[in-house]
Amino acid sequence: MKIKINKKYNPDSDINIINGDCVEVLNQIDDKSLQLIITSPPYNIGKEYEQKLPLDEYIDKQKQVINLCSEKLKSTGSICWQVGNIIENTKNESEVFPLDIILYDLFKENNLKLRNRIVWHFGHGQNSDYRFSGRHETILWFTKTDNYIFNLDDIRVDQKYPGKKHYKGPNKGEYSGNKKGKNPSDIWNLPNVKANHIEKTNHPCQFPLALVKRLIKSLTNKGDIVFDPYLGAGTTVAAAMQLERKTIGSELIKEYCEIAVQRTQEAIEGILPERGEKPPYEPPKNTPLTIKPWK
Ligand SMILES: C[S@@+](CC[C@H](N)C(=O)[O-])C[C@H]1O[C@@H](n2cnc3c(N)ncnc32)[C@H](O)[C@@H]1O
Repeated sequence: MKIKINKKYNPDSDINIINGDCVEVLNQIDDKSLQLIITSPPYNIGKEYEQKLPLDEYIDKQKQVINLCSEKLKSTGSICWQVGNIIENTKNESEVFPLDIILYDLFKENNLKLRNRIVWHFGHGQNSDYRFSGRHETILWFTKTDNYIFNLDDIRVDQKYPGKKHYKGPNKGEYSGNKKGKNPSDIWNLPNVKANHIEKTNHPCQFPLALVKRLIKSLTNKGDIVFDPYLGAGTTVAAAMQLERKTIGSELIKEYCEIAVQRTQEAIEGILPERGEKPPYEPPKNTPLTIKPWK
């Protein structure tokens, strides 16, 4: 199968990568048809792909997209909005505006229900001398109703102490943990996609495949439709395709659509570079780089 960039949404195609504005694309999608909408929107911080707006204008634009997303969601469906902070000014005058707090009410106005505020922790970023250096962003996970899909068994991770046994009571001597693994919790320690990350493309702000895959596996079933309104380098579409879901992504910038097409093609051919859920790299002790050179 050869993937290409579409100008319009084609409901007969399992993969739609559309070069266009997400509002226009959302207007072409049937109401109550999407099982999962997962995205990382522009943060309004003046990145190369966005024009920084006064905050109230940015919120109005997000409101329009969130309202449409809510209309397009199935009753069993979920919305995951991955965001960080807006930081105004510099140095000791800088003030932090967390986008999850700013946007929360827009989801509640659509009667969506928050199931988790997932903290995505990573080890690298800018250092600050005026605040604690920022090392997390969040994912707001909302559902449309109480009757939502959550496939916990599909995303369990290894137990810390799989050999631990009950030491008293009727199950004494039996293993106490779930043999399928444990719930990964609402704190996810996954490296962000910086220069030396195997998944890095020319896009300045990708999220990792492992983050998206955990959400797709847990919140959808095979054959469901996954949509990313702000597709960027195509992480959501490539992951959804690998997991045998139907998928739609909209992206304003042609160059990013081309990266998304290439990554999806690589995913189909089984050659997409992927870091997976390996724990973050720990440098070996006692090397010239890890021994303090000063007293
Ligand atoms: C934070 S990036 C998303 C990155 C993506 N999660 C990935 O892994 O590559 C946001 C993207 O939204 C795109 N964008 C901004 N406004 C848009 C709009 N109205 N419709 C579609 N895409 C838009 C930007 O060009 C940018 O690539």
